Amino acid sequence: MTTPLIARTTADLRQTVATWRRAGERVALVPTMGALHPGHISLVDLGRASAGRVVTSIFVNPTQFAPNEDFSKYPRTFDADVERLGKAGCDLVFAPSPDVMYGHGFATTISLEGPARAGLEDAFRPTHFAGVATVVAKLLIQCGPDIAIFGEKDFQQLAVIARMARDLDMPVEILGAPTLREADGLAMSSRNVYLSAAERAAAPALHRVLQDCAARIARGETFESVLAQGRAEIEKAGFKLDYLELRDAASLAAPGSDPKAALRLLAAARMGATRLIDNVHARQAQES
Ligand code: PAF
Repeated sequence: MTTPLIARTTADLRQTVATWRRAGERVALVPTMGALHPGHISLVDLGRASAGRVVTSIFVNPTQFAPNEDFSKYPRTFDADVERLGKAGCDLVFAPSPDVMYGHGFATTISLEGPARAGLEDAFRPTHFAGVATVVAKLLIQCGPDIAIFGEKDFQQLAVIARMARDLDMPVEILGAPTLREADGLAMSSRNVYLSAAERAAAPALHRVLQDCAARIARGETFESVLAQGRAEIEKAGFKLDYLELRDAASLAAPGSDPKAALRLLAAARMGATRLIDNVHARQAQES
């Protein structure tokens, strides 16, 4: 158990990172919005395995929530988060206020195409990825890590950030980490606390259907019939479906004709007032 340093300003963060750099240490950044669960801790573990120092940012970023979304009720558990991060061996928690992050007159946004316009999350949350990309770009500039780690649960977010880092020549390696799941398959998420007991009991169906669809694709069934049946099954399990789509895992475009390209199944659906997202491999990339 270590007690992580807490930096509230970019200057404090940079000063500590500069000390580490002078000692020749590599730095990993794990950006989060707090309300940490074991999935987040697995990202910190990956950071520790890849770099001598790990920074975790905790910032509930207002610009990635639409006015009708859950910004004000998003769970905030800062003290418990810091304790968990200490147990996980995180070295520094960067916890800026909105004023530090978006100073007076802030007027810059990253403009995105490609995976940010795939017709998945963006179709339902049209302003979301501009907010995510802008805050992640700021965090990367503020911290200057060698590696930044993001969960694969937010698969489109990971693709958007990897594209942005490549396109803007950011000197950082973007690493995706596998989704951690509860014993019944439900993907771990800070938003799972919103589910009532009955909703929680029904929620693992989303992952079950994704797995069934992936198995049927592996058996050679047509994509269209698998998706049609999968969509019906998600609705039958009590969800209101936003989308279930099969995409090229790299570009998030519709699957092309290359039978060796990796494919991913992605879904978002609402259980009561809670919106859940999940994704699974539908086909691994094959060597040619
Ligand atoms: O995935 C999240 O928790 C957030 O979107 C991120 C990457 C920390 C940006 O606010």
